[in-house]
Amino acid sequence: MGNMRICATLALVLGSAATLTGQAIQFSESQKVWLLTTKYNSYAMGVDSNGALQNLYWGAPLWRITDVQPATAKRDISSFDPHQMIDNEEFAGWGGPRFYEAALKVARANGDRDLVLKYVSHQIRGNELNITLKDIRDEIEATLHYRLYPENGVLQRSATIRNKTAAPITVESAQSATWYLPPGQGYQLNYLTGRWAAETQMNREPIHEGAKILESRKGNTSHNFNPWFSIDRGEGGGGGEEEGGVWFGSLAWSGNWRITIEQTPYRQVRVTGGFNTFDFSYPLKPGETLDTPEFYAGYSSAGAGGASRLMHKFEREQILPGGASARVRPVLYNSWEATTFAVDEPGQIALAEKAAKLGVELFVIDDGWFGKRNNDHAGLGDWFVNKQKFPNGLTNLIGRVNQLGMDFGLWVEPEMVNRDSDLYRAHPDWVMNFPGRPRSELRNQLVLNLARTEVKDYLFSVLDKLASENNSKYFKWDMNRAFSEPGWPELAPADQRKLWVAYTRNLYDLIDKLRQKHPKLEIESCSGGGGRIDLGILRRVDEVWASDNTEALDRLRIQEGFTQAHAPKIMSAWVTDVPNMNRRSTPLQFRFLVAMQGALGIGANLNHWSEEDFTTADKLVKFYKTIRNTVQTGSLYRLQSPRGHDVSSVEYVAPDGKQAVLLAYRHSQQYSTPAPQIYWRGLNAAAVYTVASLDGKVLNASPELSGASLMNQGLSLRLTGDYDSTAVVLQKKE
Ligand code: GLA
Repeated sequence: MGNMRICATLALVLGSAATLTGQAIQFSESQKVWLLTTKYNSYAMGVDSNGALQNLYWGAPLWRITDVQPATAKRDISSFDPHQMIDNEEFAGWGGPRFYEAALKVARANGDRDLVLKYVSHQIRGNELNITLKDIRDEIEATLHYRLYPENGVLQRSATIRNKTAAPITVESAQSATWYLPPGQGYQLNYLTGRWAAETQMNREPIHEGAKILESRKGNTSHNFNPWFSIDRGEGGGGGEEEGGVWFGSLAWSGNWRITIEQTPYRQVRVTGGFNTFDFSYPLKPGETLDTPEFYAGYSSAGAGGASRLMHKFEREQILPGGASARVRPVLYNSWEATTFAVDEPGQIALAEKAAKLGVELFVIDDGWFGKRNNDHAGLGDWFVNKQKFPNGLTNLIGRVNQLGMDFGLWVEPEMVNRDSDLYRAHPDWVMNFPGRPRSELRNQLVLNLARTEVKDYLFSVLDKLASENNSKYFKWDMNRAFSEPGWPELAPADQRKLWVAYTRNLYDLIDKLRQKHPKLEIESCSGGGGRIDLGILRRVDEVWASDNTEALDRLRIQEGFTQAHAPKIMSAWVTDVPNMNRRSTPLQFRFLVAMQGALGIGANLNHWSEEDFTTADKLVKFYKTIRNTVQTGSLYRLQSPRGHDVSSVEYVAPDGKQAVLLAYRHSQQYSTPAPQIYWRGLNAAAVYTVASLDGKVLNASPELSGASLMNQGLSLRLTGDYDSTAVVLQKKE
């Protein structure tokens, strides 16, 4: 191995074929090259003769560090095309003739804004690599953190910016990472957009010269874009659901974020992400540091499906609380759509009794239980039980819920106040504001400045009390508006914009402290549906509310987009009443099978259900419990998209391969189109499976079929008319 320093030995499986014993992180001293390799991909960087850190490779696994072309210093093409523009700098400072999206931009107190970062040193510890870059003159440093997850195929990057000079500086842009696609053209970008009740809609478009920005300026992750991207080589390059190379990434930040996808005139495709530069200004006194959010990325050679399966497993094993050993999500009941603010003890007990009979395991009381909360005009901030609605406090209700064998959960929206609340009357200065300017209300509420320590401490005391006094195992943690007038008048003007970062850090800290003190407490992240879903909040919550839109047909597309970026396990999905949004009515089974794509919940008004509804629901909840382990912890194959097709279907294969589950939906049949043929995926061709249908809609199939037949001949399903649906379960025979 010559000059190579060997670190962290582990067995790597390259693709599905070759196995070799290698190192997750290799370094060649003579070539100044690092090669980072997981089971599914490799990533390489090197230092050129000018001392600049250059990206060298990102794609399918490499195993010989000597195969990586070392970084070379390039020449200027012209006075308009300097080499700095052609280089693939791993983390570029804004300085010299660099005109693209820099990873770091600073201003010194004397107005000097030139920053040119060069390699200084590095350290390798196990699967972690730190590379320190420094300005060519000043003691302004960026330490790039790399952490490799060899089994998951994911590389984590972030940076620490350190002001080691004797004077203050202001950080004007701090990105977590820049990623480079292999040189080429014809790339396609996939990303998720949306709005309230229409989250995670899929978009796909060619990457052309210029920059595309995905971002949030709203203070939370936002419904509008999810901080996730994937890039493939397009149809011609094999970019499909199950084939072709896919480069993907996900940013862990629940505040203002930005991901910029650029194709330069030099045919580089680069993706830079981190704190949004919008209204960003972060002063660092001598000795102070700023940490950027983690940016996770990977490469899969198995198409969009392969990429999302890597992310799902990674989220479950490395991001979510409890990791791989976290329990499967319970079946939940929530009465929000049924009762809205009209909650009281007898009403909730009546619903709880009905829910328990259906096999519900977690009963959550939503908005309306506290303060003067009879509608959305009052009460937010007053986190004490409304005695008109619950004269006995919550004790009786919780006791009854527990007696019925269910855990109890509580809705909270800690970051907000209504003007009409005791909290606002006592602390009008606690909301973010610019003095003398209007305080814009959205849903009649204002945002507390959680960046302030006293606000965070107060919220901790309130939530700690709620978690301690009630046998509450679960908070549905909501956040129902975006920021406005983000002023922090208590600070010096130059420091006030720290709010954007400090708010999110304090939110994380608040949840972390709460979970530390109450280790059994579980949390659902909700922000008017899917406004706060990203890998930062997911480190701290057990599930998320994907959308306030529970209309089953709309949900199919919301959920399809969701699973591009996030694991089905955390996707809370309820069965609710019809007609629902769009004034659409779908059959109860259709609604159930749509909600079974994730963590099943029920949000219907059970007081209005017929005997027949209960019989159907009882059967379907029981059915879900037989497949949920596979749905929540297995591998997802999106067999047919709800976009552009009248039939859509998804399949899940259990981690041990013993069970596979198909959920299939007919949306709205036209022209008497024939029965859909379903080609299973991810089965063992040589194995034999028993085929069990939920409701006899599998046509002409023997009760036992080989994996080869199921994947290649497929199964025909009798799905007709509007909103027909079925489920099929395979069990592998020993
Ligand atoms: C938000 C949530 C809903 C519900 C309401 C309560 O809109 O997304 O699920 O909790 O708030 O006000």
